[in-house]
Amino acid sequence: MILLLLALISFTCALCFFIWEKSQLFDRSFLEQLVIEYYRSKYRLQDFLRDQKNNIFSTSRVKVQNLSAPQFIKKHARAYEPTPYAVLDRIFDKLSFFDKTELAFIDYGCGRGRTLNVAKAYGFKNLQGLDIDAHLLQSCQNNLARNGITNFEAQLFHISADDYLPPEGDKIIYMYNPFDEEMLRSALNNIKQTQGEAFLIYVNPVNQRIFKEYGAELVRHYDHPYEDYSFSFFRMKNDSWVKI
Ligand SMILES: C[S@@+](CC[C@H](N)C(=O)[O-])C[C@H]1O[C@@H](n2cnc3c(N)ncnc32)[C@H](O)[C@@H]1O
Repeated sequence: MILLLLALISFTCALCFFIWEKSQLFDRSFLEQLVIEYYRSKYRLQDFLRDQKNNIFSTSRVKVQNLSAPQFIKKHARAYEPTPYAVLDRIFDKLSFFDKTELAFIDYGCGRGRTLNVAKAYGFKNLQGLDIDAHLLQSCQNNLARNGITNFEAQLFHISADDYLPPEGDKIIYMYNPFDEEMLRSALNNIKQTQGEAFLIYVNPVNQRIFKEYGAELVRHYDHPYEDYSFSFFRMKNDSWVKI
């Protein structure tokens, strides 16, 4: 019993030290870091279980240095890290008024395809994903196939966002931390050039001002206790989107 108590005390001390060290590294208070670690661990466990349930493999992360892409593209890239399912559910619950049969849903930096799989489950029928890493795209294709999503319903592109032109017509564009400011500017410029209206979902919205520079208007912002999982909705071009 005493041994168990000692083990518990040691574990708690080690955990507190780990959180304190991280809080120092990121210049946060201990409490802020504690909240972040809480959500990270909770979401990782939930994500693992939901992947099992959906029979897909979307959880395993890939660091930037391990992405298979040319260096001149990789220098703008962010690591592969999937959006937590809980955050995706929160987002997709707010999109119920869209006509999902016609709209294209495009994930910029689709990685292993978790977001596309969830988009399909919420009724989107016209899916597109692009990524710079061919292995991630293969994993994405496998994950889509496991859920019976055909190449006809989901088109995948091995291309960098600055070379990709989204389809004409109305579209929903999804971005979760795919790249740096320079690449974001090129991507937004391409979106602005194509015909149709764009509704943009921006998770971890640290560069909101760049969206505004390219004429995107903030529709609504949703906070999360861990700021990486906050998200904003923007629109480009059309007043009829402001329904949320
Ligand atoms: C944070 S992950 C987002 C994954 C996915 N969208 C999700 O929400 O689960 C960022 C992804 O962007 C991809 N990426 C990085 N630079 C890119 C670029 N220039 N064009 C397209 N995708 C890019 C990375 O390979 C990575 O898979």
